Amino acid sequence: MAEIIDGKAFAARVRAQVAEGVVALAERGIVPGLAVVLVGEDPASQVYVRSKGKLTIEVGMRSFEHRLPETTSEAELLNLIGKLNADPAVNGILVQLPLPDHLKSDMVINAIDPAKDVDGFHISNVGLLATGQKAMVPCTPLGCLMMLRDHLGSLAGLEAVVLGRSNIVGKPMAQLLLGDSCTVTVAHSRTRDLQQVCRRADILVAAVGRPQMVPGDWIKPGATVIDVGINRVVQEGGTRLVGDVDFDSAAAVAGAITPVPGGVGPMTIACLLANTLTATCRAHDLPEPQGLTA
Ligand code: GUN
Repeated sequence: MAEIIDGKAFAARVRAQVAEGVVALAERGIVPGLAVVLVGEDPASQVYVRSKGKLTIEVGMRSFEHRLPETTSEAELLNLIGKLNADPAVNGILVQLPLPDHLKSDMVINAIDPAKDVDGFHISNVGLLATGQKAMVPCTPLGCLMMLRDHLGSLAGLEAVVLGRSNIVGKPMAQLLLGDSCTVTVAHSRTRDLQQVCRRADILVAAVGRPQMVPGDWIKPGATVIDVGINRVVQEGGTRLVGDVDFDSAAAVAGAITPVPGGVGPMTIACLLANTLTATCRAHDLPEPQGLTA
């Protein structure tokens, strides 16, 4: 039976470390500020934004929430981003995705000052990460990397398979694993013989958004499995959250596995707060927090 990697406890430790960093900055009169912009009424986004605001305050940072109506124009949104870019009290800016259809998310994200882009989605941060330079790194893959390093120590030479090629998780995850000297394969829905590809992996990161798609017989015995999926499925009259991995059969084969819920999920906001602390330190030319960056 695999060891269960407790993301909830790990995320609490990361937030405690961020809170320590915030206390150290307070001695210099600096309070990190995170601005979150939510356009429209998407219910899942409202839940995320509320818990982001709460945890931001809990670690001692300032939280700025901007809730804009669904009908907000591109010019209005870009105007707000311009103001947040120029505001020295704001060290991190996050525009909650998805945006309403009439707003082009690429253009909106690329209007954010890359130094304040705590999501790591700006084209400059994508390029910096891909070329092994100091970047803001997307929160979910950063959280996965932290858990892998914590569990495995050095990742050098390990076979890593990333299932999924999204800009938010799969691609940056592959870059981070390469940065830690893994041999990286990015597999996806069109990959031939997915089972054999996955079975090579010492590290398997599943980020495809397909409920319980990876069964135990796709997993190499002893592998470390990171399940990024959060899928709501109807079951026995109610609904339940499941990952991209079939937990029960995978846990019988893997060496370690993250559960859903309580695995990668809580790490994402913890890493957002870590990124906000990192951005604040960089903005003031102070040393970066240890262990909270790639
Ligand atoms: N929507 C779902 N996840 C995310 C995320 O990590 N960042 C942003 N900006 N929007 C999201």
